Amino acid sequence: MLNPQDVIRHKRNGGELSREEIEFFARGVVSGEFADYQASALLMAIYWRGMTEGEQAALTQAMLRSGAVLDFSDIDKPKADKHSTGGVGDKTSLLIAPLVAACDVCVPMISGRGLGHTGGTLDKLESIPGYRVRLSLDEFRAILRRIGFAMMGQTAELAPADRKLYALRDATATVEAIPLIVASIMSKKLAAGLDALALDVKTGTGAFMREEARARELARALVATGNGAGVRTEALLTDMNQPLGRAVGHALEVQECIELLRGEGHARALPVLDLSVELSARMVALTDHDGSVDRDAALAATRARVQQALASGAALECFRENVAAQGGDVRVCDEPARLFASGLRAVKVESPRAGFVTQTDAAEIGFAVASIGGGRVRVEDEIDPAIGFIANACIGDEVAAGDALGVLYCRDEGQAQTAAPRIQRAYTIGDEAPTPPKLIKEVIV
Ligand code: URA
Repeated sequence: MLNPQDVIRHKRNGGELSREEIEFFARGVVSGEFADYQASALLMAIYWRGMTEGEQAALTQAMLRSGAVLDFSDIDKPKADKHSTGGVGDKTSLLIAPLVAACDVCVPMISGRGLGHTGGTLDKLESIPGYRVRLSLDEFRAILRRIGFAMMGQTAELAPADRKLYALRDATATVEAIPLIVASIMSKKLAAGLDALALDVKTGTGAFMREEARARELARALVATGNGAGVRTEALLTDMNQPLGRAVGHALEVQECIELLRGEGHARALPVLDLSVELSARMVALTDHDGSVDRDAALAATRARVQQALASGAALECFRENVAAQGGDVRVCDEPARLFASGLRAVKVESPRAGFVTQTDAAEIGFAVASIGGGRVRVEDEIDPAIGFIANACIGDEVAAGDALGVLYCRDEGQAQTAAPRIQRAYTIGDEAPTPPKLIKEVIV
């Protein structure tokens, strides 16, 4: 008979947990057989002792099996999704879902809410008037089948062990342990019944994993776990040392995405599109990967397909159909400026001196926007979707004193006084032109 104390002791002493012990743990946190204080002790032991690849895979599977696993096998198309570890201005899901769906690959996207400096896809979509992300599973399935992509939030049935463990990790300073992050992310993604998964693991000042070596370690562990579970998985290690694109803030980000889908995007927003096309192409290539085909040639072909879905307007049409199906106002697809709220105050954030933008603290920009209602500082916070920041300057740009680093959109003077100086301080202006960071740093297959 297993008991929690023995499992904790085993890991505390540096042992390798058996599959049976790990399953007992995941089941026990949901049933209550593992008390919160015992689960917390085991989490801390895992934090210090780490996990082998086998333990990490077993924990992922055990957390996955703590709840329901969706089955979309009745939809006769491959299914793929992407997951990003999150960043500032990271809005690629809104482009990837229609781009991939327009290439005949279904995207059952189960997304999250934003917290802290990062925004959440569900919150962004809700800035479209009427858009509903609370769907029943039957509605989700019907939209997925008819349109090719559907968006909703995590349900209570999927990976319940993760919900319980995540709250305990948050309260016990064990969120950062890589095996726990991997099991948390992958248990939820694997529960969505996918054939392929592309991961966007971010590194830099606005990333969850700031340090590149740790982000690479996480990306490798995620890829190994996904492939080990039979889901073809690849990761891109991408730069998050500055906001992705121009827009930071819910409605502004959706507006930026629709403009890009319409071929009307600002030049400064193009990195969002480049990264979305690359992740989309990888998702499509992974679903029709046939071992006999040259990988590079297959990827070049799917990139061209994704570009064609964009240029032909097929991706925009797919987005429009999804907005209609999920109850949103489709007029935003024709006039994205409708998303821009009237009566906002535009506050220029000025460069304090002449020079080059050498660095930005992207998380600080995200926190500044969140602190005035453009995001959630605490889980229970209400969001004002209209609030946000449009970045004009990026790393490597030359600026004169008084030039606009960007424009803050807010409701009143108090918000302006709170957020604008904070954003200004997030930019470092130096004398030497830096080498701008490369957006895609590495591919991990
Ligand atoms: N995102 C998750 O879903 N889980 C983690 O542990 C970290 C990021």
